Amino acid sequence: MNMAIFKNEGALTPDYVPDKLPFRDDQLKLLQTYFDSFIRMPGSIYVKAVMVGRSGSGKTVTSKKFGSYVRVASKGRVEFVHVSCALHRTSFSVLKTIGLALGLPVPRRGFSSEELLELILDDVTTKDKYAIIALDDVFYLLNYSGPDAIDALVRLGEEYSGKGYRFSLLLISQSESFMDQLNRGVKSSLGGAVIEFPPYTKDQIFEILLNRAREALKDSAYTEEILEMISDVAGVDPEDQAKSAMRGDARYALDILWRASKLAELNASPRIMPSHVREAVMQTLHGVREDELIGLSLHEKLLLLAIVNRLMRSSDTPYISIGDAEDEYEMICEQYGQEPRKHTQLWDYVKDMASRGILETRLSGKGMRGRTTFISIPTEPLETMKQAVESMVKRDLGD
Ligand SMILES: Nc1ncnc2c1ncn2[C@@H]1O[C@H](COP(=O)(O)OP(=O)(O)OP(=O)(O)O)[C@@H](O)[C@H]1O
Ligand SMILES: [Mg+2]
Repeated sequence: MNMAIFKNEGALTPDYVPDKLPFRDDQLKLLQTYFDSFIRMPGSIYVKAVMVGRSGSGKTVTSKKFGSYVRVASKGRVEFVHVSCALHRTSFSVLKTIGLALGLPVPRRGFSSEELLELILDDVTTKDKYAIIALDDVFYLLNYSGPDAIDALVRLGEEYSGKGYRFSLLLISQSESFMDQLNRGVKSSLGGAVIEFPPYTKDQIFEILLNRAREALKDSAYTEEILEMISDVAGVDPEDQAKSAMRGDARYALDILWRASKLAELNASPRIMPSHVREAVMQTLHGVREDELIGLSLHEKLLLLAIVNRLMRSSDTPYISIGDAEDEYEMICEQYGQEPRKHTQLWDYVKDMASRGILETRLSGKGMRGRTTFISIPTEPLETMKQAVESMVKRDLGD
């Protein structure tokens, strides 16, 4: 193995929470201020706040940092429960996650959301517990289960039991537009407390990369120029906002750095070279997140894999028809020993994945007969997507 590159590769993985979060002091302060009374005098108040910002702007990592602060500042009296709604898309699944995190033995079946809610409230009242619940990527819950699912969770906090309000709520989303879909009462109760996470500029991305590189890489494995090169790709250019519509994403930048480091290691290079960065940029997923893919059902993953395979084979055209995708999907189902889903179901999957930006769809163009849906994946590297989805399918099937 090439020992020249990594000191601690873990510091470049997506879930790693670094010691310091440069450029997010203000957001962290605001969180502490909003929730201050709940943390100091649990039960005295029900706090609701919202965090919004583009992908990779540090919302999840900042919320987790805030979580550690909550536990310390409340001297362990207030728990912090982080729930990924990309993975838990129904109020039942969210409540179950909250229950488990609070140490409640959650019954496996035969319970409705309402009963589970009662159970949780009883349990925290008996045990005199308080918690801040962070619903991350709340858009998924809304999209999948509708506004009533949020209502149910907001109600969890409104309940005044024993010594007061047991829960406070932090909603996290990429844009404020999700609030328009909420029921009116909930929307107005969220009104004031919105914390914004602006996209990172090139200079900020550079600083973030430098901090991570110091932890993850040997000093001799990189130069500041290499990190600048990555910042240019991933950071917002203050001079040219329009061109930067997709940028400011620290996850993208860190992922490129990790892939470039791996390529250097693989090629037995003593340090990361510009060519490694170029190749890494081509391999890195941009608009699609790994945990969004994990959240797909098995058959959505199989269909996505079919679409990726077919697109890779038909390299002269950017689109494939839904019929072609179905043929490929049936072959893949056979390969994995799965019973294929029906056409109407697959159609729903395509719409669902398109609404989440994993796919693009369009209806057949002028001069073509009939109305067929065509599918493409214009911005993501297919090979990387294939590898990611394939390993998730295998994991889902338990091998
Ligand atoms: N200020 C920062 N300092 C150091 N690392 C950061 C900072 N902001 C983000 N990161 C890192 O960038 C990656 C993406 O951040 P995070 O997951 O918090 O983004 P997000 O806003 O939740 O994005 P999404 O909307 O896609 O979920 C993580 O690995 C995180 O540790
Ligand atoms: Mg996030």
